[in-house]
Amino acid sequence: MIRQYQEPTPLRLQTRAGFFPPARPAKLKRFFARTHAGRALVECVMRAGGRALLWSFNARPQQTAQAAKAEWERILSGIGLDPRPMEGSGTEACATCFSRCSLELKAGDTSTCDAVMSINDEMLARLGARMVIAERLTEPHATRCVVRVAAKPRVLGGERELWCDDATAEGHFDRASGFYDFLMGYFEVPANNLALRSLRLPAGACVVELGVGTGLALRSLLKRAPEGTRFVAVDRSRRMIEKARQRIARPEWAARAEFVRADAVATGLASESFDCVFSSFLLDQFDLDKRLATLGEARRLLRTGGVGCFVVMDGVPAGTLDRVMTRLYNAGYARWNPIWKALFAGYAPHCRPICLAESLRASGFTESRRLRAHIAGFPVAIFHVVRT
Ligand SMILES: C[S@@+](CC[C@H](N)C(=O)[O-])C[C@H]1O[C@@H](n2cnc3c(N)ncnc32)[C@H](O)[C@@H]1O
Repeated sequence: MIRQYQEPTPLRLQTRAGFFPPARPAKLKRFFARTHAGRALVECVMRAGGRALLWSFNARPQQTAQAAKAEWERILSGIGLDPRPMEGSGTEACATCFSRCSLELKAGDTSTCDAVMSINDEMLARLGARMVIAERLTEPHATRCVVRVAAKPRVLGGERELWCDDATAEGHFDRASGFYDFLMGYFEVPANNLALRSLRLPAGACVVELGVGTGLALRSLLKRAPEGTRFVAVDRSRRMIEKARQRIARPEWAARAEFVRADAVATGLASESFDCVFSSFLLDQFDLDKRLATLGEARRLLRTGGVGCFVVMDGVPAGTLDRVMTRLYNAGYARWNPIWKALFAGYAPHCRPICLAESLRASGFTESRRLRAHIAGFPVAIFHVVRT
């Protein structure tokens, strides 16, 4: 069955068996669906429930995404759910949950969807695949919810897998823009400043910053850069760009900077038009393929001999204490998401320690210098590179 989303009428998804039976008190349902704490609680219980199902059905990790999907469907069928595509939908998408959901979701209420669907993602991740939500009924113009099972992204040894797919991540920074600085941004300043202090920019240089966030590093760049330096700041989040724009509102700064809302893998900017690419705490939010694609874009933007500076959480720290801290971070990564989400409007950190050196080499950069710093005690690596 296909339902056309119609704004702004509140949406009542089709109910079959009733995942949240309508008899449930509306107040309780509202608490679970509409509040961050409620959603976090549901997510916590569901993810644990997913693990319990895998155990009780004696499920095993599979070699391919297809096999993982089959195993997942076996378990869902085993508990009376029907994971086959909706009749007549004409897609291969799975209809699990959505055909049973009785939550009254409003336009754009993707966080409720995230929380409820995390059970499937949790199960699939353990079986050897990932769940990608391609379309949601709560998105304008959507005709139905569409879930795809995809192969797990490539992960380098020692790195943690990202906890959500790219499309889901996109909304998180819009939501976090109001408090991001207090949660993360100000903690990133020492590492960013160390990186910027060691960056040598020629007079009149053109600099592009990928993932500008709230503009803390951009403001430092504007303060330090020689006269005539011009900046292009790229970010995918509209709200983060608004914050950054406000931060550099002084006319002498604003006149030197331009904002572009785009994905860092395809900025749409002219090739070989920059002398420097700066990026902090962006590449460590990407899986390996997206990281390589972003480095490819950075290389495309740079002139030959141009320089790059990439700040990331360090996946290969030097000292014993740093190694312990990285392990600690990795152990907690994703695990504490329900608490983060309950406290911070559905936001949880995406960054995690990565091993960047090899990817830089593979992308046509020569490392000229590596510095080390910390963010709230966790090791950070600053890579200075030259485009070869
Ligand atoms: C962790 S914040 C870092 C912000 C800033 N560089 C700093 O150090 O304070 C990451 C920023 O990258 C942006 N971002 C995430 N994925 C992106 C993508 N694929 N393309 C462009 N920007 C992206 C987010 O919107 C967010 O503003």
